[in-house]
Parts: sequence; C-alpha cells; structure tokens
Amino acid sequence: MELPFAEPYKIKVVEPLRRSTREEREAWISESSYNLFKLRSEQVFIDLLTDSGTSAMSHNQWSEMMLGDESYAGSASFFKLKEVINKMLGMPLFVPTHQGRAAENLLFSAMLRKGDLVPGNAHFDTTKGHIEFRNAIAVDCTIDEASDTGLYHPFKGNIDLEKLEKVLRENPREKIPLCLITITCNTSGGQPVSMKNIKEVSSLCKKYGIPVFFDAARFAENAYFIKTREEEYAARDIDEIVLEMFSYADGATMSSKKDAIVNIGGFLACRDEKLFERISMYCILYEGYLTYGGLAGRDLAAIAQGLKEGCSFDYLESRVKQVEYLGRLLKNYGVPIQEPTGGHAVFVDANKMLPHIPREEFQAQSLAVELYLEGGVRGVEIGALLADRDPKTRENRYPRLELLRLAIPRRVYTVNHIEYVAACLGNIYERRDSIRRGFKIVREAPIMRHFTVELERC
Ligand code: F0G
Repeated sequence: MELPFAEPYKIKVVEPLRRSTREEREAWISESSYNLFKLRSEQVFIDLLTDSGTSAMSHNQWSEMMLGDESYAGSASFFKLKEVINKMLGMPLFVPTHQGRAAENLLFSAMLRKGDLVPGNAHFDTTKGHIEFRNAIAVDCTIDEASDTGLYHPFKGNIDLEKLEKVLRENPREKIPLCLITITCNTSGGQPVSMKNIKEVSSLCKKYGIPVFFDAARFAENAYFIKTREEEYAARDIDEIVLEMFSYADGATMSSKKDAIVNIGGFLACRDEKLFERISMYCILYEGYLTYGGLAGRDLAAIAQGLKEGCSFDYLESRVKQVEYLGRLLKNYGVPIQEPTGGHAVFVDANKMLPHIPREEFQAQSLAVELYLEGGVRGVEIGALLADRDPKTRENRYPRLELLRLAIPRRVYTVNHIEYVAACLGNIYERRDSIRRGFKIVREAPIMRHFTVELERC
C-alpha cells in the first residue's frame, strides 16, 4: 500500500489550549462587537485567523536566536541573512524591515507618486492600503478564472497578460513605477503564479521599461506548486525553482512571518543601486540602521535559518498537504471552497454557502461569527468588509468573491485539529438555511476598517 505523508518533524514543546462553552463564546463575541480581531487569544480554541507570525520555529531557529549578534552596526546576524538572500534569492541588495508592510512602505516611499498606477495580481490589503494612501491606484490584472471558485485552474494567481498590456499601453511610462506580482496570491486564495506567467509578465514589462517586483511573502509555497503542477519543473529542486523565479524580478518585498517561519520580520531586496540608495534613506528614517532595520539581531538569524527550512521539499509537501486535507474534508461535507486549495489556507465561498444573506450584510463575516460560535474556531473575512470603501466615492466596494479564510499556521496544528475545524463547518453547512441575520457596521476607521470595525446583528 502507498504510505500516507507524515510531518517531517516531531513536537518538543506544547502550549495548552482552553476549550470554551457556546454561552461563553456568545458573550465574548458580542463584547467584541462581532469583530474577531477583538477577541483575546485565550477565547479562541483553534486560531486560523492568519498564518502570519503564528508558525512554530524549529529548535535550529531557536538556537540561532541565541547566536544573534545585537551590535547596532555591522551585526554578524545581518551578514548571515545577507548571504542567504544573495544565495537563495539571487538578490544582491537588501534591508531588513520589522515586517512585510514596512518593506512596502519603504518601496512605495522610494518609487510611488500621487496618481501613479501599480498593476499586479490582486494586491494584498496592506499593499493596496500603502498605494491608496499615496493617492495612487492598484490595478488588479488577475485572470478571470480566479473568481470562479468551483473551477479548477492550477495557477489562479496568474496575471492576465492582455489586461496588463492594456494598462501598460494606455498609460505613460512614468505613471507606472512598477508591476507587482504577489506569490502566492493571498487575496485570490493563496493561489500560485506559474513560472511561465512570471516569465511572460517580466518580458512584457521589460518591453515597456517597467520594473517587476514580487510580494514574496509565500514564495516557497509558490515554488512547491510550480514543481508539482508545471510539468517542466517536476524534476527541479525547490532551491533551483526559487532562484529562477527571482531571476525574473527586479526586487521583492518580503513578510518573513510567512515562508521564513518566524514570528516577526521582513525585508526589501532589489538589484538597482540607485533605488537602493533611496530605500536606504527611508529605512534609516522609518525602520532603523541598515544592518538591523527594525529587528533584533536574533530575529535576523532566525529568518536566515527559517528561509532555508521553508524551502525544504518535505516540509512544503506536508504543509500544503495539510491545507489540502482540510479542503477535502470540507468538500466531503458539501462546503463550497475555492478550488484547488491554496498554499496557506482554505477559502470557503460564503456567497455560495449563505446566499440568502444579502452582500450588504457581510456574508463571510456572518460565516466567520458562526464558526467561532460553533467551535471556538477563528477564521477571517476576506470579502466586503476587508474591501473597504472606494477612496473617491466612499461607497462600499463589493469584491468578486466573498470568502472566509481558514489560514493554517506552519507546523502548529495536528490532523485532529484539522478534522475538528472541518466538522464545525460541516455542522454549519447542515443548518445553513437557519442562519438568516447578517451584520451592519456601527463604527469604522477611514482606511483598513476590518481590523477595528464594530458590528451589530441586523
Ligand atoms: N503581502 C502579503 C501577500 C501578505 O499576505 C501580507 C500579510 C503582507 C504582504 C504584509 O505583511 O503582515 O508582515 O506586514 N498577510 C497577513 C495575512 C497579515 O494574514 O495574510 P506583514
């Protein structure tokens, strides 16, 4: 018989989890204004809010923490990380940042002006926030297949070349400082971008003289999908695939809280020395001196080790297969999901699951609250709440998809946890017709409202 996959690690340290009653959860979620970000972590049993900074470090990473060099300038840990970034990503220049959005801040401070356009594939919300905060526009050129959740497409993160070329052709070169490819594309479901597409986007942008940057938060998971779904790469190592992917980019922002498997950190890498000079100025201003950039030396050392572990095939296989397993269980219960499952999360199609709740009443948020009440499981809404208001008209924006994301932290939960989560959603699916009331907003921030929004039941 074919042997099942099993995690290539064992558990050495455990953290207790507390279960709660439905009555307790009713009270806690109401006190939190039905915003799951406002819950205290001990009020959550299984936390699938995010895979960002929530993963388990290895004993080798913890050892590296002890070896961290805390010198203000010229830290040995910086050079350790620099060597890994040079070797694994082929990027000669980089500054550390305290997390991914800080790298975005430096990049856009150095490159973006009011009225500019940044084409890409469904920019992540902080990325879009940084672009719109500067009165520039994020243009989503993702392929249409990405918004048909039931349709199988191996690379739903791909950029539609015609949509991209239209933006490049119809706007002056100086209005488009860069094109941003998010690998994997979180917003469309942790969906990968094929090497073919990366290559084509890069050569199209070259033709128009536009630099290409990666939002590389989940680059290793993207490389795994290239290896397993793009035939010509089946025999190639993850390391080789990663190096080739980055060879088509002029630079990258990175949230190390994802594929570098650390609890905090990020970086901004590039090739161009002139751009690097501008970035360096903003780094010193906003983050810190160039060899620590908002992090402790020990964090830099843990990232260096985590980048290597994050690109191991055995680790990536167990990671992606755990996500896939949750997707399979949900499908068996009839729960509609974005297919195929992505690298870091399963996305439940709330519009298909709760079609009787109007979109104005936030279907995916309603499902997120139900899931919390059912079993103390915290997911996150990726729908109309997150999509915020149009910066000009201030009208609510309704994205094509209304999703509940179940993001799986790396090396944290067991198969039993996964089965528990699936059963909770299975129960909700059974009684879905009885879930009738959505939510209305009672208080919201002017930008990135989902973090602090307060809601009431309709
Ligand atoms: N880019 C992508 C694709 C992301 O998913 C994130 C964060 C960022 C940039 C920003 O990085 O958090 O280190 O500042 N995503 C987290 C999530 C928050 O839950 O998906 P950060």
